[in-house]
Formats: sequence, C-alpha cells, structure tokens
Amino acid sequence: MLTTNEIRTAFLEYFASNGHQIVPSSSLVPKNDPTLLFTNAGMVQFKNVFTGQETRPYSRATTAQKVVRAGGKHNDLDNVGYTARHHTFFEMMGNFSFGDYFKPEAIEFAWNLVTKGFNLPKDKLLVTVFAEDEDAAGLWRSIAGLDDSRIIRIPTSDNFWRMGDTGPCGPCSEIFFDHGPDVPGGPPGSPDEDGDRFVEIWNLVFMQYFEDPPGTRSPLPRPSIDTGLGLERFAAIMQGKRDNYDTDTFVALIQASADLTHQAVDGPFKASHRVVADHLRSTAFLIADGVLPAKDGRGYVLRRIMRRAMRHLHMMGTTEPTFYKLLPALIQQMGGAYPELVHGEALIRETMRGEEERFKAMLDRGLHLLEEEKSHLASGAPLPGDVAFRLYDTFGFPLDLTQDALRGSGHDVDVKGFEDAMAVQRQRARAAWTGSGDTAVETIWFEARDKFGASEFLGYSTEQADGEVQAVIAGNEFLKEAPVGSEVAVLLNQTPFYGESGGQAGDTGFLTASGVKVAITDTQKKAGDLIVHYGTVTEGTLRPGMAVTATVDHDRRSAIRAHHSATHLLHEALRRHLGAHVAQKGSLNTAERLRFDVSQPRPITDEELAAIEAEVNNRIRDNSQVVTRSMTPDEAIAEGATALFGEKYGDEVRVVSMGAGTDNKNPWSMELCGGTHVTRTGDIGQFRIVSESGVSAGVRRIEAVAGKAAQDLTVSNEQRLTQMAAMMKVSVADAPERLAAVLEERRQMEKQIAHLQRQLATGNVAAAGVDKIGAARLATRNVGETPPRELKGLAETILKQGNADVVVLISTADGKGSVVAAIGPDMVEKVDAVALVRAASAAMGGKGGGGRRDMAQAGGPDGQAADAAFAAVRETLKTMA
Ligand code: ALA
Repeated sequence: MLTTNEIRTAFLEYFASNGHQIVPSSSLVPKNDPTLLFTNAGMVQFKNVFTGQETRPYSRATTAQKVVRAGGKHNDLDNVGYTARHHTFFEMMGNFSFGDYFKPEAIEFAWNLVTKGFNLPKDKLLVTVFAEDEDAAGLWRSIAGLDDSRIIRIPTSDNFWRMGDTGPCGPCSEIFFDHGPDVPGGPPGSPDEDGDRFVEIWNLVFMQYFEDPPGTRSPLPRPSIDTGLGLERFAAIMQGKRDNYDTDTFVALIQASADLTHQAVDGPFKASHRVVADHLRSTAFLIADGVLPAKDGRGYVLRRIMRRAMRHLHMMGTTEPTFYKLLPALIQQMGGAYPELVHGEALIRETMRGEEERFKAMLDRGLHLLEEEKSHLASGAPLPGDVAFRLYDTFGFPLDLTQDALRGSGHDVDVKGFEDAMAVQRQRARAAWTGSGDTAVETIWFEARDKFGASEFLGYSTEQADGEVQAVIAGNEFLKEAPVGSEVAVLLNQTPFYGESGGQAGDTGFLTASGVKVAITDTQKKAGDLIVHYGTVTEGTLRPGMAVTATVDHDRRSAIRAHHSATHLLHEALRRHLGAHVAQKGSLNTAERLRFDVSQPRPITDEELAAIEAEVNNRIRDNSQVVTRSMTPDEAIAEGATALFGEKYGDEVRVVSMGAGTDNKNPWSMELCGGTHVTRTGDIGQFRIVSESGVSAGVRRIEAVAGKAAQDLTVSNEQRLTQMAAMMKVSVADAPERLAAVLEERRQMEKQIAHLQRQLATGNVAAAGVDKIGAARLATRNVGETPPRELKGLAETILKQGNADVVVLISTADGKGSVVAAIGPDMVEKVDAVALVRAASAAMGGKGGGGRRDMAQAGGPDGQAADAAFAAVRETLKTMA
C-alpha cells in the first residue's frame, strides 16, 4: 500500500520524467492575486504565465500545491469533520502546460498515470466532459478506449472551471472513481450524484480563456493545461478507503488527538478528532506562511479555524492548552515534503499555544452562557443575534464556532440579528474615535473604513503584491476615475506598503496595471487600520475596481528595515549599559537614519557610546534570526518584552525578538512592535552612532545610521581622512601627530601676529598720520584681529606718544566691530569719547556704548563697516572740536 507521501512523490516523478519541472508549492497567501483570500488551486501561482504576462524557463510544470478553502469564495469550513471529503486544507497535485501540449497529451498523461502508474482498474473509472466539447469526448474514446456510456456530458458550469469571478478559465474534463454498487450515490450529472459512490479524483482544465471583467472572455495567447488531483481523496482510493480521514496521514493525526485527549478514535468524539486533525493542518500551514491570528482578514479566518479546533479539544475534556501538542505528529507526517513546517516550528507552536491559553480562559464561560441561553429557547427557535454577538465580543466566539456548537441541537443563530449588533458596535466605536481632530478630513476615512473594512497589510513577507483598488480619493471625495497628472489617495484591499506608524516611515513605490502607473510618494495610516497610498497618476487613468500590482521601493524599504531593527538593538544595548531606567521617548526610522530619544538624566559619555555601538555591532554579527509572534500585551510583558509605557495597543500585538535561540527562549531583545524588520540581525550590516545630544530635561537623543547608510558614512569618513592625510603629505597613521604639530605651529604664529599687530598699531603716529579736525588732532586705526580687550591699552599708548589728542581704534576680530575712543587732557573739555563710540557703533549696526568722557568703548555686529564707522566719528568730531 502506498502512503500519501509516496503517492505525492510518484505523481511528481511521473511528470518530471515526462519533461515537467517540479515547482515547489506557492504560499497559501496569494501575492499575485487580489481577488483570492487563500491559494485555492495549483494554477494560482501560474496565473500570469497562462496569460503570457510572465515567462518561466519551462513550459511544463508539476506541483503539489497547498490549498486552503475556508472563508471567502470556496468555503468548506462548516462541513469539515462531518463528511468524508471536506477539508479546510488539502494538497492539490497538478500538471501544467503553458502553451506546450494540449488536450490529447493531457488526457494521455492522466490516463496512463492512473491506470498504469497507479494501477487503478479501468472498469472502475469514468469521465465527464463539458457537453460542447466533442473533441475531448473523442479523445477519451480513442486514447482511453472508453465507450460512450463511460463518457458523461455535463452541460453545466460544473465542467467549466474558473479560479474565481475573473482569471484564466476553460472547459474541463474530470476522472471519477466508482466505489461500487454497495455505496449509495449516482453518477455525475444524476440527481443523487452527491452520494459517496462516484468520487471525482482528477480535474483536467483545458485553459483557453481569460475572463476580466466578469462576463467578458478573451482567448489566452496559447491554449494551456491546468489539472488538479486531490491528494487526500486519491490516497483514500489507493489505500482502499472510502473516507479521506481513514488514510495514513489522518489516521496518525487522529491517533495523536486520541492519545492526548484519551478519547476513542471512533467513539462519540469521532467528528471532533477529524475537526482537530484537519484544522491542525490548516493552522500550521497558514502560520508557516506568515498568517497570524487576528481580528480581521486572513488572520481572522485562521483564528476561526483555531478556535473551532480548540472548542472540540475542550469538549473532549482537555483542561490545558493541547492543540499545539499535536504539532510534532504533523511535522512527522508532512515536514519532509514541506520543510516550512520544520523551519517555522517555534513560531507555529508558540502562536498555537498563545492563542489557546488566551481562548481557554473565556471558552468555558462562553459555553456556559450558551448552554444557559439555549435552555431558554423554544424548540427550534434561533439563538438571538445579540447573544451570539455577546459570545463574539466578550468571549471571543467567532460566529461559526457558535453555529458549530449549536449543531445537532435544533437551533441555529439569528445571523441577521448578529450582524445588526455588530453594526451598532462599529457605529459606537466610530463615534468614540478622537483621531487628529480634523473632523472634515477624518470623515472620508471613516466612510471608507465602513465601506471597505481594514486594509490588509502583506508587507511583513513581501514587497510586491496585487491589490484591488477600492477607492481613489482626492479633495475629500471619492473619484470615479483619476486621469494622468491627478494627485490621489488610493485604497487597496491588500497591500505590501507600510503606512507610517510607530516611528517607521511610510513606504514609497509604484502601483501599476496595464497602461496605468501611479507613483506613490508616501503611505499613511488612517482611521486606525486603513493604509492610504498618496501619489500621482503618471500614466493612464486609475479607476476603482482595477487590479494593480503594488511594488514597494525595495532599496528604500531595506534601508528603513535596517534602521528599525537597529533601533531595537540600540534600545536594548542602552538598557544594558545605562540601566533599566532607560525608556523610549520617541523614535524615528527612515531610509537615511534613525533617531532615538530615551529617558536618561545625564549625557552619555563617549566611552559609553563606544561600548553601546560595539554591543549593537556584536549582536548584528551574531546574525540571529528575528522572530515575530503575536500575543496579548499582558503576555508579552510577562515574557519580558519591552513595551512603551502609556502606548495604546489593540488586543493583539506583534512581538519582535532578536538574538533568540531556536526555541525562542530568553531572546536578547524583545519588543512589542508592528514595524517591518530584517530576517536575521546580520542583514542590518553595520551600525554607527552619529551624535548624542540633549532634547529636554532628562531626555537624551541618539542619532545613528545602519546598513548602507552606515557604510556610506564609514566610507566618506575614510575618504575625508585620506584626503586630509594627503594634504598634510603624511600617511593616515601619521596624520594625528602631524595635525597636532600643525595646530601648535598655528598657535605660535597667531601669538606672533598679535604681537606684530600691536607693534604696528602703536608704531609712532607721525604728524602726517593724524587728521586735523577743528582743534583736534585725530588718529584712527583699524587694528584687525587684535582682541578687543587690548584696545584701551593701545589707545592710551598712542595718546602718550603726544602726536594726537583724539585716538579711535577699531578691532574687527571674529568679524565684529569693537571701537574704543580715548581723549587727551587738552581736548577732554570739548570732545566726549562716549558720543564718538556711539556714532561708530551705529555705523557698524550696533547700539549704545559707554565709558567716561575721556575713554569709552562700544561695538557692532558688522566689522566690515569699520571705514564707515571712522567716517561717522569724523562727522561727530567736527561738531565738537
Ligand atoms: N484548477 C483546477 C481545479 O482546481 C484543476 O480543480
């Protein structure tokens, strides 16, 4: 008997030996499609290859694709556990031709693999074709030798496959397995086709069209092939089972659930074990692909799945968190084929444990309330919507969990009442919102928030993703279209762009669609959880409803990421070197630099800064993984995460740890943070502190650079150093000594110059150097750089030489003008020194001046106006002497 793992391998190898490239499964979060919640088929990753938009180095491929069908268009959640073949997670095996082979080869490959490779008896097989597809019917006759009774023509959309409302599509043909007459059910197309007798195993889609907008089909450039074989149901057939949950993988998972709960596999909790086994797979794979439980979007679908499983475990009598204990069994079954489970083990385990610890606390009380309310209900009456809402709002019961809990009781939920209660609460939350206070501007964002819900942020794991344009806004209005040149704010249902928050700058980049381009220059968060892209339409016309590819400026985002992660390391290094009193007071992370303000009573010394810088660089070189988990603030703080005091957090936060061991215990740094970070600390590259300064009492500011900016700083410093050494004609190593010598030389020269200037100034004032103004003999001198404090002494010396009886000196040291006037005994009756210096000061842009009648001093900011000052002195003197 082949195991599921062996069947997967055999399938892939069969197609590999027929010229197909084995391509790994893509993520469950479809980054290239805005219309899908989760990857729902093998062809999703090849969507753009079918249309010709993207080319790959191969034209034949084969995959085992992870698929989740829960929430959104294909939703199997409600049925899981109660049927033989419904799953929230399953694997779809497929082979693909991108304009290479078409119908005949596709049919031949499939038929040969099923009948020869896997040896299924031909008389147990039948096929369906799309009613109009005579071509396919003929090929089944000739290739498989099936007669017309085994080729069923289906006229309905059942045999026309489409990924969603838009995208590649085409007629299809399905292979069915017949479990035999003792199983109830009719052949496909018959009224009782939903029975278990005839099971569809393989769907061959003849991809011929592309549909967009809905209802409009155009032919694909080249006809292609997309097929899907559900691995679980095929394994059931290969293992002689009628029920997917009886195959080897599920038997192992269900056994693990039975061992943990001590409840028999086939006892009263048969359905619960199945729910647990199925949900374990979707939970682990979704978390491995970057989805974390959250209040809305994909994260909420995950939370619903997880809590549903947890209720079933609870019903089976577990009192402690149990779900995560099943993870090793899953890894044993599927870790070989999907190494992401092994790599993500710590994250998956911690996320599962955290979610269950949190939910357990409320589950009991919620179920109790539900029981009580149920006992008041008349037989068959629905549970009132407000009760379901209370269970949701207070006890964290997703609606489908309540519905699941009521299963078999004859009651269901008044869903309309539930939704009304939800709407009332949203209204109240909106009324309570305080925002920036600019209500006119805020209203449009709340209108948008009500209409479209939160924007989903994909940027933790990708820098490019497709999104649907929900709204184009300008001037506080929703636009129908925005032509070239329009400045707009754009809302997408999902985006990799980070909206500025938590000190991290918003992203820039481009939104593109065929013929349309919008250059995004900033991204902001509005109304709490809307991500708003601001930019200019540079090509074509942007309209709501369009699908666009949103591409973040990679270099800029990398630089921002390096700075943000470096900030975490800096924060922790500061705490370790300066003490626990260090708390974050402000933070800014841009592409160019980081700025970090901390409470710290005294300046940080150069030695401390050097040690902190070295510590951060050591942690960078440790190159440890940066681990993100999601938990409540209380749990995070209990684990020792650094939280910002006074900051408001929602009920779920991301916790970013760095320097952790693989078990994520005692990480070196752990902070509550919604920002984007590097994958490993080594990605930061290097860290350099640029400055330390005081911002206000008790708060110090550190400015620093990381990554490329740090490298640029280092390189340009180095260049300057080399240049300086070259100018001094020494090696860099000798430069400090040489510079010290040059500076000493300069000090000596300055002394000498001052001495010479003094000599010059006091040099005998010959009669010729003196102006006769009235009765006064005036000597004026601009003494240049001579320090102002020396002016009085110089003036006295000149007076004493006896050739002048009014002496006015101006120093222009440091560019300013300083003036001194000294009057000899013969003139002091007539001439007032204070009046002279005031006139000089005014000419140099100054004011006032003071001293005695025979000796006064003043100044002005403009030393260059010395000549004008002397002229003013002459004018004033004329009026006195
Ligand atoms: N894309 C096809 C399916 O999902 C094969 O059934």
